[in-house]
Amino acid sequence: MVSSPIIIFSLFISFFPNLNAYKSDVLFIGPSHVTQLSSNPRIFLYKKFLTKDESDHIISLAKGKLKRSTVLNGKSGVISSTRTSSSVFLSKNQDEIITKIEHRIAAWTFLPIENGEPMQVLRYENGQKYDPHYDAFRNEDNIKLWGNRIATVLLYLSNVGKGGETIFPHSQAKHSQKKDNESWSECAMDGYSVKAVKGDALLFFNLHLNKSIDMKSFHGSCPVIHGNKWTATKWINTISFDNILQKKNA
Ligand SMILES: *[C@@H]1O[C@H](CO)[C@@H](O)[C@H](O)[C@H]1NC(C)=O
Ligand SMILES: *[C@@H]1O[C@H](CO)[C@@H](O)[C@H](O)[C@H]1NC(C)=O
Repeated sequence: MVSSPIIIFSLFISFFPNLNAYKSDVLFIGPSHVTQLSSNPRIFLYKKFLTKDESDHIISLAKGKLKRSTVLNGKSGVISSTRTSSSVFLSKNQDEIITKIEHRIAAWTFLPIENGEPMQVLRYENGQKYDPHYDAFRNEDNIKLWGNRIATVLLYLSNVGKGGETIFPHSQAKHSQKKDNESWSECAMDGYSVKAVKGDALLFFNLHLNKSIDMKSFHGSCPVIHGNKWTATKWINTISFDNILQKKNA
């Protein structure tokens, strides 16, 4: 007899990982959806992390509020030709759907929800890109003020016709990745690259466990060639970002 109710229940959960989330205190994620893409740096892909409706919802919250993205220079953001997207920050717990996604990210990454920064939603149009850079701070003054970004989760909210790949130029896995010239952009050839697929989530670690920066976590967003690329970024910090925000608002 194989029809144990427990086995049937587990099968049910593994096919519908998000279905039972929030019906109880237990949050189910689907480990079978996760692939380790690279161990050096540590990069993981979670297929179908968001539903289509969740992806569309995040875009709708951002539409109409986007401004040219900036890069951090000392304490403030400045416009730079290295980053040409438009973006906007949402608030943590902005609404029920965002809260649910933030809990799901914490459960997947095993990192505390309070360490997450508010999500930043980004739109890359034709030709727009973000040149390779580090998400972790290297400036000690910034680290004192803000902690440091141990991990990054990128949520892909749209499919992109061509281009817009996330690229890791220093990943060791780049040598073994096969890429054809048809579906990958030329930019994507210079590293380990990940195509933006609506609903997928990418997790990578910017710091080693001893908090020193992982120099291989260098990454960028290739220029979009066809279509629009929408993503949401969740940076996860070494310290409670909720405490940082409270101090800032005090
Ligand atoms: C793909 O394009 C690059 C650069 O244009 C070229 O060097 C390479 O030989 C091409 N590869 C294939 C398989 O066509
Ligand atoms: C931190 O860990 C990394 C990876 O194991 C190692 O390469 C590096 O030397 C360590 N740094 C320090 C300061 O211990």
